[in-house]
Parts: sequence; C-alpha cells; structure tokens
Amino acid sequence: MLKRVLLCPPTYFDVVDQKNPYMSAASPVDREKAHRQWEALRAALQESGCQVETINPAPGLEDMVFAANQVFVGYHDGFGRFIVPSRMVHSSRQREVPFYVDWYRARGYKVVDLELGNEHLEGHGDLLWHPDWSRVYAGYGFRSTRGGVKIFDAAMSKLGIPVVPLHLVDRFCYHLDTCFCPLNNDAVLIYPGAFEPESLQEVRRYWKRVYELTAEEAHKFMGNGIVAQHRYITPYATPHLEGMLREEGLTPVIVDTSEFEKSGGSLFCMKTFLP
Ligand code: ARG
Repeated sequence: MLKRVLLCPPTYFDVVDQKNPYMSAASPVDREKAHRQWEALRAALQESGCQVETINPAPGLEDMVFAANQVFVGYHDGFGRFIVPSRMVHSSRQREVPFYVDWYRARGYKVVDLELGNEHLEGHGDLLWHPDWSRVYAGYGFRSTRGGVKIFDAAMSKLGIPVVPLHLVDRFCYHLDTCFCPLNNDAVLIYPGAFEPESLQEVRRYWKRVYELTAEEAHKFMGNGIVAQHRYITPYATPHLEGMLREEGLTPVIVDTSEFEKSGGSLFCMKTFLP
C-alpha cells in the first residue's frame, strides 16, 4: 500500500535565530546543499514506496521545511481525517500554521480548533501516534506545554483516543520526535535520558520491545528517522543502531541532513504521513 507523505521544499530555509540549542549564527546554512539533501529525502521516500506531496514554501518562513510541526494529523473511524492546528512557541513558526491549515482544509480534512489560550502544542514534533492509531504519545516541557497537552487530551478523549503525556527533560531533545520513534506496533526506539523517570516508566508500559539510543546517537538525530517499507531512513547509523534495527527487520538508509541539523531538525521533522 502506498503511504502518502507531505514535504515542504527548503526554498527559504535558513537559521536566523536560536529556537533550540542546535541553532547558532556561527553555522550558516548552505542552501544549495540543503536543497540537494531535501531532494535525497524525497527520493528515499519514493524508493520506499511513498507518494510524496508538497506544500508551497512561503518567503520569510525559514522553518517551514519542517512539515511535522504546524498541525497534528489524525484519522478516526467515523470522524474521518482531521487536523489539530498547532500553537507554536515562536512567532515566525506560528505564521506557518495557516498555510498548512489551508492545505489540509482544501483536501477535505476536518479542522479541530482548540482554545489553547497561552498554552502551546507543536504538532508531530511532540504528538506521535501509536502506529495502529490506537493512542497518541504527547511530549511536553520545552515546546508543547503540559496545559496544551491537557487541552489536546480533552479533545481526543471525545473521540475515544487516549493520550499519554510524557515529560521531556533534555533540552537537546526538545521535541518528542527527537527521542521517541515507533518502529512498529510492538517496538519503539527511545533515548531514555530525555524523559523524566515517571514518564519513562509510562513509555515502557505500552511497548513489548524498547530499544535505547545513547545520548550521542540521540543528539545526532538517530532517533529522528523515518520508517517506511522495512527501511529506517536516518541521517547516521552506528553498529549499535544497526543491530537494534536488524532485530526488527529494518535496514538503515542514510540521508545526509547536515544543513537541517543546524536548525535542530532532521528527517522525521521534515515530513508528515497523511492518513
Ligand atoms: N528550527 C526548528 C525549530 O526549532 C526545528 C524544528 C524541528 N522539528 C521537529 N519536529 N523536531 O522549531
């Protein structure tokens, strides 16, 4: 079955401020190189059986390439395909949201607008589905707030979708997608040091097999990979990671994301799978 995935070309991609500890004015972006890396991601997804859709980038929105953050995308039997627009922490990123909401609305997705007040939610940076759509894991602490996750939880509970809040504590893992990567319905790849102890226990309750990255691996975005057709698309691999992937029948496919890492993001952050 073809998996559909949304990407945004990095036409205006840049590092202009410091939204996370990876970003620094000292490492300017090579935009041509970024474009080649993005094209390699698109090709790797297509070679892994994905149908790639794109949204038009907007000038001045330097992080719009990170297509995972502007909305949460869901599917529910009965309710259908829906999105929950984010309320991003940074104002330039908040301006990306309406472009994505329009894209999804034009394609028939229902829009579930939450009254977030001063709370924050950052889409699939922090909100990750169990692969079988049975529940959502919700990271908070750096970007999404505890209060934002509560409001999201209340809305999802009306649809009968359980939400598992997870408290993040490592600033290099400021989004859940940097330290938590479902490999299939039974196995997850995590960096344990990114979770507050009770949250780590919560994670372990829901998975038969939990694979652990080292801090070095996690901070190199090896937990920010993309699973598609028995492949794990990742910016780097170590023998340790390869061993864990092998246990789950996954082959690593390397796609260099050096330019995007300067912005604190890698492969998982650059796409959203479409139900
Ligand atoms: N520069 C972006 C930011 O700080 C990177 C976002 C990475 N996205 C992700 N899902 N982790 O917002």
